[in-house]
Amino acid sequence: MINLESLALRFTHTPQHTELWILDQMLLPLKEEWMPLQTVSETVSAIKALKVRGAPLIGVTAALSIGQSAVNGTSMTQLKEEAQALHNARPTAVNLMLCMNRMIAGIEAKKSPEELLTIAVDLFNEDVRLCEALAENGAELIQTGDNILTHCNTGGLATAGIGTALGVIRKAHQQGKAIHVYVDETRPLLQGARLTAWELKKLEIPYTLITDNMAGHLMRLNKVQKIIVGCDRIASNGDFANKIGTYSLAVLAHYHQIPFYVAGPYTTLDKECACGDQIPIEQRKASEVSGVEGVFGRVEWAAPESPVYNPAFDVTPAELASGWIMNDGVFVREDFQQGKLR
Ligand code: MRU
Repeated sequence: MINLESLALRFTHTPQHTELWILDQMLLPLKEEWMPLQTVSETVSAIKALKVRGAPLIGVTAALSIGQSAVNGTSMTQLKEEAQALHNARPTAVNLMLCMNRMIAGIEAKKSPEELLTIAVDLFNEDVRLCEALAENGAELIQTGDNILTHCNTGGLATAGIGTALGVIRKAHQQGKAIHVYVDETRPLLQGARLTAWELKKLEIPYTLITDNMAGHLMRLNKVQKIIVGCDRIASNGDFANKIGTYSLAVLAHYHQIPFYVAGPYTTLDKECACGDQIPIEQRKASEVSGVEGVFGRVEWAAPESPVYNPAFDVTPAELASGWIMNDGVFVREDFQQGKLR
């Protein structure tokens, strides 16, 4: 019997039955509703719709979905096509590609369905350990009294474990450090306001929600001591992609001389990618910017037929980061320049 449980995912497997469930993140915080993912095509749709999201979590969910499909008797040819469809579901977070490449390698090596499932389960458990190690490393940078600004959602809803940037914050809080978090609401899909605020409230970590455009004002007033964000892909020179708005924060932090850290496990590092310009940036639909799809229906606020630009991520150049908080330690730019992370 296999039983995996995280804040956003539940997976059980017995010889008779396999179930994969996700907490629908597009309904949070208004509704806490779990949905089953019974087929890979349901998983592809859930990933595209951000019902399951966050770089590490989409990789792990996709892997478990392939594991489930394998034990349900899908042929190897079909499994490979399914893994490819998941691989292509979102283009920026490299964790998804890494997890799918591991599953595809298993399929090509003609592993048994149970062995393929084991690869997926190992990916889940590995992510839990990576989050923990990363959080320990990052918490050393935090001091009592710090006001930490964060962007998007990088916690238990974005990973199999305690999170990346939010995992660091959680660990520091657990260690008894008196900290306070400024949560960027994170336009357009409000992962900060909806998800990070929800997690921090549950964890009883003091926080204040702000709109993204208030961050600079707070920095100027000396109200922010540190900024910690997550990442979706780190290039081998240290440039990284993260939720749209991260680059603006990094520029503001540089001007105000505020330490700006990025947190991510080694599974977010893309050694094949030389620099940030090579990171594919996901473009999403106009309706996410022109209005909102709420649980109570759609509200449109933009002038009808306004042209919209909606990149889901931006790239922050390595020179703007004070440190990369990873599972193996905290790295600085020189470490990337000397090829230590290859
Ligand atoms: O579009 P999303 O919500 O999947 O974007 C998530 C982020 O940008 C996170 O900061 C990133 O995946 C790191 S999560 C540990």
